[in-house]
Amino acid sequence: MFPFKNNITLERKNNRNLYLQICDQIIGFIKSGQLPPSAKLPSSRKLSEDLNVHRKTIIAAYDELIAQGWVETLPAKGTYIKSSLPVIKQQSFGKNSLQTNSKTKSNFSFIHRPHLIRKEQKIDSLELRIDDGVPDNRLAPIEEIAKTYRNITKRAYYTKLLGYDSIYGNLELRKTLVNYLNETRGLNISLNNILITRGTQMGMYLAGQLLLNDTTNRIIVGTTNYMTSDNTFTEAGGIIERVPVDENGLDTNVIENICERKKIKAIYVTSHHHHPTTVTLSAKRRMHLLQLAKKYNFAIIEDDYDYDFHYSNSPILPLASNDNYGNVIYIGGFTKIIAPAMRIGYMIAPKDFIDEAARLRCIIDRQGDMILEQTMARMIISGDIQRHSKKALKIYKTRRDLFCALLKEKLGNYFDFQIPKGGMAVWVLLNKKYNWDTVISKAQLLNIEFNAEWKRYDNDNSGHNGIRFGFASLNEEEIHEIIHRLTKVMKSINC
Ligand SMILES: Cc1ncc(COP(=O)(O)O)c(C=O)c1O
Repeated sequence: MFPFKNNITLERKNNRNLYLQICDQIIGFIKSGQLPPSAKLPSSRKLSEDLNVHRKTIIAAYDELIAQGWVETLPAKGTYIKSSLPVIKQQSFGKNSLQTNSKTKSNFSFIHRPHLIRKEQKIDSLELRIDDGVPDNRLAPIEEIAKTYRNITKRAYYTKLLGYDSIYGNLELRKTLVNYLNETRGLNISLNNILITRGTQMGMYLAGQLLLNDTTNRIIVGTTNYMTSDNTFTEAGGIIERVPVDENGLDTNVIENICERKKIKAIYVTSHHHHPTTVTLSAKRRMHLLQLAKKYNFAIIEDDYDYDFHYSNSPILPLASNDNYGNVIYIGGFTKIIAPAMRIGYMIAPKDFIDEAARLRCIIDRQGDMILEQTMARMIISGDIQRHSKKALKIYKTRRDLFCALLKEKLGNYFDFQIPKGGMAVWVLLNKKYNWDTVISKAQLLNIEFNAEWKRYDNDNSGHNGIRFGFASLNEEEIHEIIHRLTKVMKSINC
């Protein structure tokens, strides 16, 4: 018989109950094949003597093994390992079981999507980073968020927020956003027109899935365009048509030309600040686009990811504010106002589309974080969000001005750019004598990290040599330092 006495070790000071320690070890012997199917276990009396524990401890361990389905008791015969158990080969555990246990290859096939592969961003690096336009997380109103969150969880009703709730999102947030968006964006919506999402990206995904998974699946985007949206629409089964983008945004005459020849299902537009070039879609083209949408019955997916940050004048009202015929799907959120980790966004559209999107959303993610959504609602009602975005707007404007002034003064020979009217990044074109790969690798030697793969800005290989330089997340000292180091980098490159 298997030598239980020599193989079971019990730690009496361990927090885990003795009977569970015995149980765990017997399961280990079964899994490793040391105790084969149908092997007999010692009687409880014998094992209790061998291990010097109370007999009740062994009985409890055997009961647990029976409950878990590892062993069975045969009347008048004894306790046996179940005969139907598979013999599992023992795994060798190294010193670092986390490492040795991590599997790298699946023993099954699945769909591989090479177009979604992205270089992983470096996290926690101490280097100076040029991102592609994200907020400064150090400014996030974390104290106010924590305070509001805590207050909500102190109230009696909060347990309701822990349950399954509406698939459209937290009711208070929806009500608040309906008012907030009607006031700030000139929309004219009701509760029927809103779905809470986990950020703008989820809205884009849902729209793509609902519009493009069909036989007419052509979608127009700008060239160049926000690459993740290209991926999102390709993933949904869309065929992408590209139209030029100039200083007035998407060229709507080219769009009209395409519509005359082909059935178009949707247009994706970052109307306020085109991603990546930052230009604003002109008023004339906005009207033209809405007319075309009405005439050719296509959807406009309007991604207003950074509406609040417009520096030269008041933000321009979205296309959605003039959507008289139900063509616009408006998506946005709080990830740029507060911080990327605040995964709260919204989709605004005609009721039938919102209903369908809510049902689809429900099978990916049953619902969002109801307490956080309620927190956001309270912070809009109290004005905290508006105060924060006003404060951030002022700071980002100062940073934009400083960044652009230094870029012009110190690096004007190498980079060409226009001062963006809004957003968090500058669209910078590198003089074609130079190559981004060289610039990026030299910059790394001076501890400047470009976290974007620059080629992703040129997804149609037009060779424009442009990338986005985010300025919003850098304080003034960091801006000076980045420009200083970049100047060194550029001077060190011979061409
Ligand atoms: C143009 C554009 N749309 C959508 C998103 C996604 O935003 P969110 O984090 O709210 O999902 C981003 C993020 O950077 C973006 O740049």
